Amino acid sequence: TITLQENASGFCSVDGAVESEHAGYTGSGYANTDNASGAGIEWSVSAPAAGVYTLQWRFANGSGDRPANVLVNGGQVAGITMAGTGAWTSYTDSGTVDVGLSSGTNLLRLQASGSSGLANIDMLSV
Ligand code: GCU
Ligand code: CA
Repeated sequence: TITLQENASGFCSVDGAVESEHAGYTGSGYANTDNASGAGIEWSVSAPAAGVYTLQWRFANGSGDRPANVLVNGGQVAGITMAGTGAWTSYTDSGTVDVGLSSGTNLLRLQASGSSGLANIDMLSV
């Protein structure tokens, strides 16, 4: 398992900002997307071999359900919902999503499918 954080190689960009207002995150902060449909976060993942890899995010959500789509190399491959955790300082692990990756560099994108944007995302594990 590798973990991709906002301060580590692999994290590419967020449609929003990396912030540290709500304690409980790992690394130097979390990604707070704009509260809009289509807002997302991108990571570059280097796969040692082509195959199926399991994705999981650590997140906090002080609001209601925040649904999202998972895109691999530009194609939508899965959906996931991150339910409320009760507070923006309460972080938990998401459900898992299995995706096929190519050998070498892959672009992963988690993209909000609801108008409130994503939950605050602390890290991605692959
Ligand atoms: C609050 C919170 C943010 C969060 C936002 C949201 O503004 O401080 O961290 O991202 O709500 O609803 O997405
Ligand atoms: Ca937000």
